[in-house]
Formats: sequence, structure tokens, C-alpha cells
Amino acid sequence: MRVVVINFARFAMYVCICHAVTDRTIRQAAAEGVETLGELRFRTGCSSSCGQCAEMATEILAERRPLGLDVLGSDVAVA
Ligand code: FES
Repeated sequence: MRVVVINFARFAMYVCICHAVTDRTIRQAAAEGVETLGELRFRTGCSSSCGQCAEMATEILAERRPLGLDVLGSDVAVA
């Protein structure tokens, strides 16, 4: 029996199709201090067109964030 091990960490996944932003780009931005979706949008264009990527981009940003901080930024109203 042959076992093939695939290292998925080597591959990037497109999160934002409209602006060709990958998960790797988002993680790099987070490592460089980007904390909100608004900041990511300004920097990469992610979520500035159709917005279908917003939830996943926010989740990826949150992976690098300590608990308790606002992950959506000031451009989202809370009712
Ligand atoms: S997929 Fe990101 S703005 Fe459309």
C-alpha cells in the first residue's frame, strides 16, 4: 500500500475571487498588524466588491487575534 501525504500548507486558497486575495495574503496582513476587515479591505481590496468573501476573511483574521477584540472594525454597526 502506498501512502501519499499532501502538505496543504504549501498551497494558497483564494478567499476573495474578485480581487485575487488568498488566505496566505490575509494571514500575512494579519501578521503585519491588520486587525479588521476594513483594514484588510483598504490594503488588499478583499470584500470591496461582491462581499461574498467577508465572512471567511474575517474568520482568517480572527485566527491571529486575541479573544475579545472587535473583528469587524468600525464600518459595521451593532444594533
Ligand atoms: S469575492 Fe471578495 S469582493 Fe467578491
